[in-house]
Amino acid sequence: MNQVKLNTEAGITLQKILSIWPQIMQGRRKEKILYMLSLLMHARKIHTATRALVIEATQMVVPKSYDPFFHMMKDMNKFKRLTLDPFDDVEAYNALPIKVKRWKAPRRKKTTDVLKQKNVLAFCASPRKGGNSDILVDEAIKGAQDAGAKADKIMLQKIKMGYCIGCRKCKDQGYSGLCTVKDDMTTVYQKIIDANAIIIGFPIYTGRECAQLSVFMDRWDCFERFKFGATLKPGRVALVIGTWGYAYDDTYDHIIENIMVILKLHKVETIEAISACGFEGILHGLDEKGRGVIAKFPKELKKVYEAGAALVK
Ligand SMILES: Cc1cc2nc3c(=O)[nH]c(=O)nc-3n(C[C@H](O)[C@H](O)[C@H](O)COP(=O)(O)O)c2cc1C
Repeated sequence: MNQVKLNTEAGITLQKILSIWPQIMQGRRKEKILYMLSLLMHARKIHTATRALVIEATQMVVPKSYDPFFHMMKDMNKFKRLTLDPFDDVEAYNALPIKVKRWKAPRRKKTTDVLKQKNVLAFCASPRKGGNSDILVDEAIKGAQDAGAKADKIMLQKIKMGYCIGCRKCKDQGYSGLCTVKDDMTTVYQKIIDANAIIIGFPIYTGRECAQLSVFMDRWDCFERFKFGATLKPGRVALVIGTWGYAYDDTYDHIIENIMVILKLHKVETIEAISACGFEGILHGLDEKGRGVIAKFPKELKKVYEAGAALVK
């Protein structure tokens, strides 16, 4: 890589950015940032990088979940108004932009044979009954039911679900069971096999999916058999709903994508996705009665209702 020239302010900015990571990571991150920076400079015929360009190059090589850091760097007042004030000012909390984004769905062929049965299995991974994820999952179910589907809902927090213990018995050629861990997942596995549409709603905890969902997705691994044989045949579709606090509707889209990729490994095609944001502050995303604030936004809920209906059409 050619030497990348930075002006003084750009150099200070790069050091500041690197300092957010443990030292053991910094060299690797620096290499990636400088590489991206060199590509941008070459494309735009720039000889000396500025602070703004360093930030732009960094944003291109790290996930969107780093946005709070860049928002702070770019405009601390705006960051404070939008992100910090709602933690101690009820008015600011009530003014938080609650947004639901329905992802643009791919064009697809009309209903397959499997889908004609319209059997929806929904999972809420949030431990908060009546919280935002729960309300959104219910809204999607309503949409699916009004479109003629049968639906069943499972709160992961309420079932007995142990961790995957890594025994790998499920990968043995002669093993005829699904999973050696005997708990409520035994019946859930059968429900997944019987379903043709899956809904998964979950909150972001610490920049990733909550633990309930993480454990749940690990337990799907037994669907993959000896030499990558698959238990689930293609044909199932999914709607994935992610919710979080930070007031931007793309901050954790990559986590929603991770869940879609795991589903795809099991031949479940995600055809609808929802990102919902703005659920934090003094009442932690709830209203004064302890219900998810999303219930106050019928226009936003409608997008999820429509995604639920589209899932089974
Ligand atoms: C332990 C914990 C960690 C969280 N971490 C994040 C986070 O990293 N980023 C974020 O934007 N929101 C975070 N939140 C906020 C939740 O994602 C948000 O309130 C979510 O919508 C709650 O969903 P629920 O109402 O369905 O329970 C966190 C909440 C909890 C309880």
